[in-house]
Amino acid sequence: MKYHTPVLLQEVIDTFDPQANDIFIDCTVGNGGHSLELTQHGSVVYGLDQDPTNLQIATDRINSPLFIPINKNFNQLNEVISQIDKPIKGILFDLGLSSNQLLSQNRGFSFNDNQSLDMRLDPDTQELTAEEIINTYHYEELCEIFTLYAQETYSKPLSIRIIKERQKKPIKDGERLANIIRDYYQSKHIRTTIDPSTKIFMALRIVVNNEIENLKNTLKLTLNPKLSGTTIAIISFHSGEDRIVKQFIKANFPNAPKAILPTTLEIRNNPLSRSAVLRSYRIS
Ligand SMILES: C[S@@+](CC[C@H](N)C(=O)[O-])C[C@H]1O[C@@H](n2cnc3c(N)ncnc32)[C@H](O)[C@@H]1O
Repeated sequence: MKYHTPVLLQEVIDTFDPQANDIFIDCTVGNGGHSLELTQHGSVVYGLDQDPTNLQIATDRINSPLFIPINKNFNQLNEVISQIDKPIKGILFDLGLSSNQLLSQNRGFSFNDNQSLDMRLDPDTQELTAEEIINTYHYEELCEIFTLYAQETYSKPLSIRIIKERQKKPIKDGERLANIIRDYYQSKHIRTTIDPSTKIFMALRIVVNNEIENLKNTLKLTLNPKLSGTTIAIISFHSGEDRIVKQFIKANFPNAPKAILPTTLEIRNNPLSRSAVLRSYRIS
């Protein structure tokens, strides 16, 4: 299979300086790109992912006793920290979704998914789906989600369209939802550089997986006294996420290093990296 390309990989390695027997927690294993590199430096990695499918892909790929897979939401970080009785050198968060999740059929994340509008990272432990939001939420609730989480300019008319369409027949897959959004943009001759449904899909994914609250709560968990000397590195991919990370660092670690952005070469080779921002801080 084609694995997700890890973003800012060398910059993460430079930030952590991994050595043999160092201990890291990768809170967002994905396809294991960053974890693999850390284990190749001889470091031990406790790897968390809420999505059991991705965790299995990474475990098979890394195939090393240095990698310890844990199927957990990173908001349970304290439980993992309490099980580790040695100093933890670094903790990584590479937020969002991996390319295989974004492209997969039957998960509901993709504009081309004609089978599902689910969007749960872990269907075994989560209840709310994007399908439920799209088919049952009131106009005001849809508008709020689209505006708050994606700054969608056309939240109101799009919510009206979605409600009209769902009255004809429930909206049960990503492709149909994407077409409703695209049709609106086309009918108004609004041009976009990316697919017009990108923002709405992102907003739904954020709500289904409670991404903003998870991030806020987990950043606070890194203030754990057991993490004295640990470097925390966070890669975010949209302005809402980055603002939360930036404000947290400003309030707690005013001398933290400057944010690192991908080079033009990385963006050319991997367009998914274009909005990435790496921020780090060291717990004193
Ligand atoms: C951008 S990908 C990570 C890619 C990875 N660094 C690599 O190189 O392959 C983000 C991963 O984080 C996982 N994830 C997102 N939110 C999570 C959470 N709250 N807890 C645990 N895993 C989460 C997703 O399932 C996804 O696999």
